Amino acid sequence: MKIKGLLFDLDGVIVSTEHNHFLAWKRTADHLGIEFTEKENELLKGISRVDSLKKILDLGKKSISEKEFDELLQSKNDFYLESIQSLSRINLLPGVLNLLEYARSNGIKLGVGSSSKNANYILELLEIAHFFDVVVDGNGVKSPKPNPEVFLIGAEALCIMPNECIVFEDASSGIEAAISGGFQVFGVGNPEIKPLIKNYLNDLTEFRLEEHA
Ligand code: BG6
Ligand code: MG
Repeated sequence: MKIKGLLFDLDGVIVSTEHNHFLAWKRTADHLGIEFTEKENELLKGISRVDSLKKILDLGKKSISEKEFDELLQSKNDFYLESIQSLSRINLLPGVLNLLEYARSNGIKLGVGSSSKNANYILELLEIAHFFDVVVDGNGVKSPKPNPEVFLIGAEALCIMPNECIVFEDASSGIEAAISGGFQVFGVGNPEIKPLIKNYLNDLTEFRLEEHA
């Protein structure tokens, strides 16, 4: 099938903010007295902020009040935002800028499908917002990844069918979402997902658009 569009996950595909998320959740888990390492963090990649905190509480078999839950979400996000203040174009992951430029100049539609509610802000910091025909983020979906909604809304906005569109993902939740939505999927930059996906790239420099479009 000839490819007409590309949908990019943000965190871990366009920019390596996953470590910033990890450090912010680690701080939250430490506050709650819950053990949290990179291994547990893998379960959180790609899922929403609310679902992430629920997962941490499940890991520690803890329950907290709604008020404390909301306060922890807020302080996690404040800490996270503080840690990404200095992001700029130089922080784009390898191959991203070239692929965006090449795709644009070849008439391929471009979108972002992210669980993050900070997606638009981060795209502005990275100075790449203008490349995208659509940005679907955590503010625009009812059912976050692993539900395919974020990518289905993206493809609809680009006026293309899921099977005419490649999704780039670094997280198992996102791969599950894209596969169940009927998209072609490439896993990128996270060795943990290799067993889940036929098409795996160490980074986007390895992707050849001309072989698909
Ligand atoms: C996803 C990240 O893109 O967005 C997760 O993979 C993150 O790690 C989620 O928790 C929600 O992000 P935010 O910026 O809305 O807290
Ligand atoms: Mg990701």
